Amino acid sequence: MTEPKKLFIKTYGCQMNVYDSERMAEALGGQGYVETQSPDDADMILLNTCHIREKAAEKVYSELGRYKGLKAAKPDLKIGVAGCVAQAEGEEIMRRQPLVDLVVGPQSYHRLPEMEAKAGQGVKALDTDFPEEDKFEKLKSRPKAKRGPSAFLTVQEGCDKFCAFCVVPYTRGAEVSRPAGRILDEARDLVERGVREITLLGQNVNAYHGAGEGGDWGLARLIWALSEIDGLARIRFTTSHPNDMDDALIEAHGTCDKLMPYLHLPVQSGSDRILKRMNRSHTRDDYFRLIDRMRDARPDLHLSGDFIVGFPEETDQDFEDTLDLIRRVEYGSAFSFKYSTRPGTPAAERAQLPEDVKDERLQRLQGLLTEQQRRLQDAMVGKTVGVLFEKTGRLPGQMVGKSDYLHAVHVAAEGVVPGELRQVKIVESGPNSLKGELI
Ligand code: SAH
Ligand code: SF4
Ligand code: F3S
Repeated sequence: MTEPKKLFIKTYGCQMNVYDSERMAEALGGQGYVETQSPDDADMILLNTCHIREKAAEKVYSELGRYKGLKAAKPDLKIGVAGCVAQAEGEEIMRRQPLVDLVVGPQSYHRLPEMEAKAGQGVKALDTDFPEEDKFEKLKSRPKAKRGPSAFLTVQEGCDKFCAFCVVPYTRGAEVSRPAGRILDEARDLVERGVREITLLGQNVNAYHGAGEGGDWGLARLIWALSEIDGLARIRFTTSHPNDMDDALIEAHGTCDKLMPYLHLPVQSGSDRILKRMNRSHTRDDYFRLIDRMRDARPDLHLSGDFIVGFPEETDQDFEDTLDLIRRVEYGSAFSFKYSTRPGTPAAERAQLPEDVKDERLQRLQGLLTEQQRRLQDAMVGKTVGVLFEKTGRLPGQMVGKSDYLHAVHVAAEGVVPGELRQVKIVESGPNSLKGELI
């Protein structure tokens, strides 16, 4: 028997990349690859990259530089770049780093096995097309490997929104939704393999409009159909755009038991002037009204968001408006970033703010968000929540899982196995996690 070849995949960026990396590993399994945790013994290295901010893109080149020694020692080592940097920079990557054998954009992963074979014959391969065919349908999985309790499932890709700062519409292309039937099949397959919680993914997941029985389905309809799968206990989705939260989806938060009371709903800024300059096509009041409706439907909802500070032309007052929005909404968690200039996007052409102003604003904003996060986490003490157990903890008999609100929870739970969903009373709130007791 031939030794299996070893594949090392390093994933950057968003959860959609995590999902894509899993699918690529499965597809390359058909070429005789098994995954390894280190590049040192790999026969193929694949970087699944992110282009969202300058630093993310630069990381790729410094990581590639580190592989020089490995390639010199093992000339038939194949090195590939996938993901959004691959899409944005294409051939430029091979020019800047000649040890790269293949470059594959996010919509061409089903062609990866072919490209790998080509690279094996010493031919460099590049594919950054946006083909018509459904890559996930062509990316057949390996036979049923057991899975952890929680899984991602991409249902929608691409973005038509063109926020003035963002590269995603260029790297991922136009919005495309997968047919509902295929998503349901994949979900059933995941559940058979041990999955109890599915997070539906899309760059604009709530713009989902896939072909289904009787016509196009929205995300709410898809969630209801998924909720009928026995053994699937929890459904989440991310990332949503405020303009695509329709009535059916808001209502589902109040009525679908399997849909978790947690919503990631980025707003980016609290200033109407900046929202307009960002081309977000909603105002801060639109956002407040939407949050009110969400909380009417689901009073115990936790919100999470994304914020950009130091967008071109952001004044002190604009920034204060963002802090004010955050105070009014109260977030359970959030991601915040300094604006990063992305070549080819409209905002890159505008006058930029000094770095120290961005730094100072980011610090203040993160201070406020951390306070809120802490307050909501502390407020869990004394409450009873569902916890889906994922792995053993550091102490004997201890298990760690995720609450309905995505808090990590440590519980003395002798005999409980990963994949069990139990009711837990929260007794303590630590720096990054909660402690609870089984009830
Ligand atoms: N589709 C999602 C998220 C896309 S990227 C959405 O619309 O919310 C994730 C986050 O990265 C964005 O929400 C934004 O906050 C941040 N981001 C995108 N482009 C950026 C840039 N040029 N500089 C800084 N942050 C950026
Ligand atoms: Fe980027 Fe805006 Fe699209 Fe989100 S909605 S992916 S931030 S362009
Ligand atoms: Fe990054 Fe591409 Fe995701 S740019 S955030 S990996 S869609």
